[in-house]
Amino acid sequence: MKICRTIAEVRAFRQTLVQGVGCVPTMGYLHAGHAALVQASQAAHPATIVTLFVNPAQFNAAEDLANYPRDEAGDLAKLVSWGVTAVFIPTVAEIYPTGYQTYIDVEEVSQGLEGQYRPGHFRGVATVVAKLLNIIQPSHAYFGQKDAQQVAVVRQMVQDLALPVEIMACPTVRESDGLALSSRNARLSPAERRAAPVLYRALRQTQDAYQAGERLAETLVEQARAIIHAEPLVRLEYLSLNDPQTLKPLAGTLAGSALLSLAAYCGPVRLIDNLLLAKHSEHL
Ligand code: PAJ
Repeated sequence: MKICRTIAEVRAFRQTLVQGVGCVPTMGYLHAGHAALVQASQAAHPATIVTLFVNPAQFNAAEDLANYPRDEAGDLAKLVSWGVTAVFIPTVAEIYPTGYQTYIDVEEVSQGLEGQYRPGHFRGVATVVAKLLNIIQPSHAYFGQKDAQQVAVVRQMVQDLALPVEIMACPTVRESDGLALSSRNARLSPAERRAAPVLYRALRQTQDAYQAGERLAETLVEQARAIIHAEPLVRLEYLSLNDPQTLKPLAGTLAGSALLSLAAYCGPVRLIDNLLLAKHSEHL
């Protein structure tokens, strides 16, 4: 596996790869969710480049950035065992050198949901993803549905800026009890860890209700809220039904599929999750 730490190095390596390249952007502390993105890329392209960069521009709280788990040696070992072609691990100064001043703001899709509670988050995500894609120049880039709004923001940016890359969304990888894999799960206490799967249970039971014919947005949202409310260790921040592409909030009778998404605090740890309510189990 080629390890590149500078833009010049990864660009030079990229030029040696003649065929299509798949790219998987990550912030490291890799888990099976990231592995699934790598596998999807490897199934479609002869070369897969993973990027590993904890992007300061997308953290709105300095504390969250400082607490973000890191394990470069462990990550490199995993990437080797997964058979990744190359990894790009830039420093902050490599991506944001002194004097850096260009940011990308995807205006509408970044509003609401995560955007409402993490001001500036998607500006940071869009900026770094645009820069990473411009450096790596993959034909396809792989993202997880777990961060559904991120997928929508990146897709809108790629369309608006006519970036020559296709954005692929992969289903959320979960623990056996339904908890979505996340680097943040490592910070849950044992009791919080036992409580956290209530989020997926609420999403699933609401999806079941949808598939059984319930179409009233307020009823579906209320059902999910009640299930989560019954778990004292979990505090819901938002729970919302939105159009899966535009992310506009939905109310009244649902005409088609809908994205049910939430954020909740489990102790000090902020978790997000979502499911697509559709006639058959589908993903973004
Ligand atoms: P990170 O949180 O490391 O996630 C990297 C990719 O893995 C994202 O596309 C995310 O949606 C996906 N992912 C995380 N958990 C997953 C799970 N349980 N199942 C499937 N996919 C999962 O998301 C970011 O980093 C950053 O915002 C980034 C896009 C790298 C820009 O800095």
